[in-house]
Amino acid sequence: FEKIPLRLTVNGQAHALSVEPRVTLLDLLREQLKLTGTKKGCDHGQCGACTVHVDGERVNSCLSLAVMNEGKEVTTIEGLAREGELHPMQAAFIKHDGFQCGYCTPGQIMSAIACIREGHARTRDEIREYMSGNICRCGAYPHIVDAIEEVQK
Ligand code: FES
Repeated sequence: FEKIPLRLTVNGQAHALSVEPRVTLLDLLREQLKLTGTKKGCDHGQCGACTVHVDGERVNSCLSLAVMNEGKEVTTIEGLAREGELHPMQAAFIKHDGFQCGYCTPGQIMSAIACIREGHARTRDEIREYMSGNICRCGAYPHIVDAIEEVQK
C-alpha cells in the first residue's frame, strides 16, 4: 500500500507522519508512536480497551482508520497526568481499587472522563450504562463506578 501523509496532535505533541491507509489509529499509536498504554483487546469495537479521545470525544481507536484523523487532537492515557500529578480520575481508580489486572484500565479511565464530561454520571445506573462498552474480565465494575462517582462530586 502507498503511504499517505498524516498530521495529527497526540497528547499535545504535533506529528507529521506517513501511514498506510489500512492502519488503525490504535496500531498507529501503539506501533508507530510507541504509546502502548492504549490496549488492544478485541480489535473490533467490542471491548473498549482501545478507548482514546479524539477532539475531546471518546473513540474506539481500533475502529478508526488513522488517516481519518487528519488535523485532529488525540489524547491517550499517557497524556492525562500533568507535571507528575495524576489526573483526578487516575487517582480515584487507585483509591477505589478500580482494577485488578489493569489491562482494561486505560480504556476505562478514558471512558470515565468522557462520562463525566458528557454529563452521564448523575446516577450509578447512568454511569453503568455509559460505561457498558468497556469490558473488565476481572469484574471491577462496582469499584469503577465508585471512582467515577467520587470524581463527579
Ligand atoms: Fe477496540 Fe476492543 S480493541 S474495542
